[in-house]
Formats: sequence, C-alpha cells, structure tokens
Amino acid sequence: MPTTSPGPRFTFPDFARYKAEHRRITMVTAYDYPTARLADAAGLDVLLVGDSLANVVLGLPRTLPVTMEEMLYHTRAVTRGNQGGLVVADMPFLSYQVSVEDAVRNAGRFLKEAGADGVKLEGGAEVAPAVAAMVCAGIPVVGHVGLTPQSVAKFGGYKVQGRGAEDARRLLIGAQALERAGASAVVLECVPDRVAERLTRELGVATIGIGAGAACDGQVLVFHDLVGLSEGKSPRFVKRYADLHGVALEALGRYAEEVRGGRFPAEGNAYTIDEEEFRRI
Ligand code: KIV
Repeated sequence: MPTTSPGPRFTFPDFARYKAEHRRITMVTAYDYPTARLADAAGLDVLLVGDSLANVVLGLPRTLPVTMEEMLYHTRAVTRGNQGGLVVADMPFLSYQVSVEDAVRNAGRFLKEAGADGVKLEGGAEVAPAVAAMVCAGIPVVGHVGLTPQSVAKFGGYKVQGRGAEDARRLLIGAQALERAGASAVVLECVPDRVAERLTRELGVATIGIGAGAACDGQVLVFHDLVGLSEGKSPRFVKRYADLHGVALEALGRYAEEVRGGRFPAEGNAYTIDEEEFRRI
C-alpha cells in the first residue's frame, strides 16, 4: 500500500495548473547524481535528463548516437539524486520513431527501470500517435518542437525554426497535435519570441522555452551552460549565471602546483598512528 509522504514539489498535473495560474515553470537539465542533487536543492520544478548529455557529458558533436542504455543509466543517477522535482527523461533517436509499439515499450522502461516520472520526445504531428499510445499506457509525455536536435541533418544545421509564416504554422499545427494526443507540456526550442508567444496563447498545454523568448509558460536551460561549465561560445539564448569552468580550472591548477611544490598534502590532511603501534611494526 502506498505510504503518505510530504509528496513531490511538482507533478505532471502542475504543468496545467501553473499555466492557468500564470506561474512560471522552471526546468533544467540534469545528467547525474550531483547535478540532480543541486537542481533539487535549488528547488527547480523539473529535472530533464536531456539527450544533450551527448554534447555536454560525452563530448559528442550530435545527440543522435546516444542509446537507450546510456539514457537509462543517466536517468537512474538523476532519480537517485532527486527528492521533490519531476524527472523527465529524453527518448533517444530511433527509440520512438520506428513503431508505436517500440515507442511505448521504450518509454515505459524509463519509468519501470530508471524511476523517471515521464518522458520527452521530439517532433510534432508525426509523433502524435506514439504520444497518444504512451499516455494511454499511463506514461506522461512532454513534446518538443522547433529546433529538434535529432533532426539537425534535415534542418541543415542548428538553425532557428518558424521564421517564415508557413514554418511557424507548421509548428503550431504540430504542437496542437501533441496537445490532442495528451502531452502535458511542449518544449519550444529556438523559435522567434513572437511565434512562441502565439503558440503559448493558442495552446492549452504549457510551453517550455529554450531560445523562445519570455512569453512561454516556463523555461529550460542546459545545466552546463547555465553554471558556465561548457567551453566555447554559447548561443545567444544562454545566460551563464556562474563561471564554474573558471573556478574548477583555477582549483585544479592550484592543486597541481601544491602537489609539485610539496605543499599538499599538509599535516592536517594526513592520518596518524600511535607511537607505540608504530614502533611495533
Ligand atoms: O536534450 C536537451 O537538453 C533538451 C533541452 C535543450 C530541451 O532537449
């Protein structure tokens, strides 16, 4: 029998409630135990185990090679570190596009084997049948339209989507299909702010923006971008709230210097042995 507990801070029905109450939803990616602990301690509503881990954790140029097993492995670490946030796991490329049956089985594995609360997948009308089947099976779903990185080759690169009227209309139709299929929220990635504002107004489900302006019902950022752990130039929608890369680099440099100079470990970092015991060795 389920026991009563303080309960989670945010649940799937809260996407709709927050939208109705004009409360902004906070989402951040998390890929392992420490990032989940941090996001949870900071009180973020949703922890997304994004397949962006391909880029920021595995050093891959694209998200496409990531496997179900890798996503499950990282999701397990995140659920172990999370206490009150909602954990949403990204479905990797080809885990939901081949057949609806495949999609439901793979989505279910995130809940059954990794403790996720729900899944996210990329695409509009073309994935609506898979979304409907997952929801029917009791698996909550977050959709994702706009710049969907698994389709980067089709887009010819990481480009803003929905800049033309027809393209923007396609995004709206796709997001509406996800809503009808039962998705709880839709991520809008790299779309013009006015297009995101229109979608947010016309959709009954919550929109979560990344590079989609301020009108969305919530925002998501990649953890490593937000805390300044990623190297190189960030896209314009990223705001670095800290420079952890700089802090870590400086700490590692000082550590190496102290080891080379014989200043670490110091007396306080060593264990002692009783004099009598030492003599008996
Ligand atoms: O994989 C990811 O991190 C994502 C977010 C950027 C929305 O899909």
